[in-house]
Amino acid sequence: PLDGGPAARLLAWYDRHARDLPWRSKPGEVPDPYRVWLSEVMLQQTTVAAVTPRFTTWVARWPDVASLAAAPDEDIMAAWAGLGYYARARNLVKAARAVVAEHGGRFPGTEAELRELPGLGAYTAAAVAAIAFGERAVVVDANVERVVARVFAIQTPLPAARPAIREATDRITLDTRAGDFAQAMMDLGSSICTVKKPQCLLCPIAVDCRARAEGIAETLPAKAPK
Ligand code: ADE
Repeated sequence: PLDGGPAARLLAWYDRHARDLPWRSKPGEVPDPYRVWLSEVMLQQTTVAAVTPRFTTWVARWPDVASLAAAPDEDIMAAWAGLGYYARARNLVKAARAVVAEHGGRFPGTEAELRELPGLGAYTAAAVAAIAFGERAVVVDANVERVVARVFAIQTPLPAARPAIREATDRITLDTRAGDFAQAMMDLGSSICTVKKPQCLLCPIAVDCRARAEGIAETLPAKAPK
């Protein structure tokens, strides 16, 4: 089709501009669910800049889920030091051991099964399903929320807007390249569709964006007054 819609435009942009991050597979490579899962857990409350070096040393020490599952708790907690929110590390150990004990050392491949593992909330299960397994999961983090609120000019404040944002994200998600789409949305949100000064002139989906057309991009998503 002549117009593949916003997802196709975004994917074409991602093919040129994806950030080179150590947990991302290269085109043609099979993604490693362990690395995808580990990175998503680390990135939950910690920035990409802070996670990047820690991810690299972590996977050098524990290259797969079996080695992590076999490591002593104290070593894992010590290796997490400085990343904060230590419940994430405790759940990480539990999930690694569950993957070994209950799934023969292979991550389960569906969003629903991933959701059963310790520490995998709705976001993380969807992200791993999409990025590691190509499942058409709807992946919504704060960056995606902002991009979608703007593209559809959703004016309802957060958090009330979340169901509408989720539904709109679902509508533009394709059946293919789910992981690339999710990560392209994250990259767009962190580099171009930023909170304060969105760079609409550089945006690959500016033509799709109702907030841009209405001149209200930087006001969205609205937040309910505290
Ligand atoms: N933040 C959370 N997950 C991410 C990913 N896969 N790439 C970049 N930023 C992220």
